[in-house]
Amino acid sequence: MAIPYKNSRTLCFFLILSFGLCLVITSAELERFEHPTKEDGSLSFLVLGDWGRRGAFNQSQVAFQMGKVGEKLDIDFVVSTGDNFYDNGLASEHDTAFEESFTKIYTAKSLQKQWYSVLGNHDYRGDAEAQLSPLLRKIDSRWTCLRSFIVNTELAEIFFVDTSPLVNKYFTNTEDHTYDWRGITSRKDYIATLLKDVELALKKSSAKWKIVVGHHAIRSVGHHGDTEELIKQLLPILQANDVDFYMNGHDHCLEHISDIESPIQFLTSGAGSKAWRGDIKGLNKEGLNFFYDGQGFMSVQLNPTDAEIAFYDVFGKVLHRSHSSKQLHPSI
Ligand SMILES: *[C@@H]1O[C@H](CO)[C@@H](O)[C@H](O)[C@H]1NC(C)=O
Repeated sequence: MAIPYKNSRTLCFFLILSFGLCLVITSAELERFEHPTKEDGSLSFLVLGDWGRRGAFNQSQVAFQMGKVGEKLDIDFVVSTGDNFYDNGLASEHDTAFEESFTKIYTAKSLQKQWYSVLGNHDYRGDAEAQLSPLLRKIDSRWTCLRSFIVNTELAEIFFVDTSPLVNKYFTNTEDHTYDWRGITSRKDYIATLLKDVELALKKSSAKWKIVVGHHAIRSVGHHGDTEELIKQLLPILQANDVDFYMNGHDHCLEHISDIESPIQFLTSGAGSKAWRGDIKGLNKEGLNFFYDGQGFMSVQLNPTDAEIAFYDVFGKVLHRSHSSKQLHPSI
């Protein structure tokens, strides 16, 4: 069960009453969802990106394998890295693509968990606000999609960041597509507030594992390559705040790259349906551990000391595993 709550206003009143410090808070806090860990304190989830094609391009095969792996790992939820519906997001909250590409595809019992999703650039090409609509949650209660938000599990805190507005290309007049920027009246203010909110939330977090999820890659050797805007604006915030993993989609592949300046691991899971075979830029191969240009998904298993990441292909075969561990600090 996910329980959303907004506490910024309450906090503000509290501060006015007690200290008169309300001015200190200049931006609203990101919406939070509390998600319990398993009884033994561990957590596991699947990560999928770039998927909604009414089952085509192996979407259904990937979904089937997710169901099997999801059951084996007893997953707590699923993370979607965006580009949820192709080609142009949802046309409205009544668009049947929602059921045809989501509800009727991810039918396995183990996948009947909360799905935490961000928007990708293709989602912004349609009615972006439709995907945020509470109506979708009535149609399929698993669906939880916001622009930016936090899932707190005690063991891990997951920060979902709306990366599309940061990418300059979508705002130039040479861009062929149109985007639904209705919710973003001033791009400059939106980005400034977003980065500040993420930074504050990361600073405040005492979670053992800090995970950031966005649609666009910070680092990628695939078709789109590195996202310079994120390297400049988002990465320094993650590096300064002990983030363990950055997870994204956008490039239709699976990959694992290690940051050379920090312990951050860059994990791309954007292979939920149409893959881009052989489409490899690979200009900057620094820190590259693994790259696969076919379809598949990723799993994450966490406990207080260890993290295990695995990538799977369309047959459910494990292609790559990565293990991270942390010293358990003695409690005082
Ligand atoms: C589905 O996956 C198989 C195995 O990776 C691949 O050979 C095939 O081309 C894929 N089909 C499509 C339509 O992408």
